Amino acid sequence: MPEFTVESFVQDMRSIAVAPDATRNLRTYMDKVFTNPTAIAATFEGSQPGDIILFEDDTVSVWRTSFEPGVSVPAHDHQLSAVIGVYRGQERNDFFEADPNGGVRRSGEVTLGVGDVLSIGPNAIHAVTCVSQEPCLGLHVYLGNLTEVERTLFDIDNRTSMPFDDANYNELMSADRF
Ligand SMILES: [Fe+2]
Repeated sequence: MPEFTVESFVQDMRSIAVAPDATRNLRTYMDKVFTNPTAIAATFEGSQPGDIILFEDDTVSVWRTSFEPGVSVPAHDHQLSAVIGVYRGQERNDFFEADPNGGVRRSGEVTLGVGDVLSIGPNAIHAVTCVSQEPCLGLHVYLGNLTEVERTLFDIDNRTSMPFDDANYNELMSADRF
């Protein structure tokens, strides 16, 4: 694998997103890129903290994500196929299934460490918790415009769901609760 650059990564993601078999090819590409997580980490060394939208249009969203130790991102869907990879730290993904009452029940969990890649279907519901001592950093690619699509947040404790917006998101943010 040649040296990782954001420009070529984004360009390749854009090409894959508009070609046939995008979901499968995206996974194949991410598996290859994350065989060298050190190269990705080196590229982002010294970059601004937090999430960075590297590219977004109607066909693909490319994010550098950052989760702080012990913090959980509330359960949510994407409505888009996604592939995520971790290049530093460790994150636990808790998965949930919708139940007929508008709530959700836990259906499993996957912990991702450095170099791990995970495919997430468009209807999947997950919460993410950084379980490492250092921030968990990764690349998330979604086949569509993540900030434009209508998504749902889930309050696990109260078995309710609500539109994904900043106010609801901040309300549900908390220390590790899963
Ligand atoms: Fe997510």
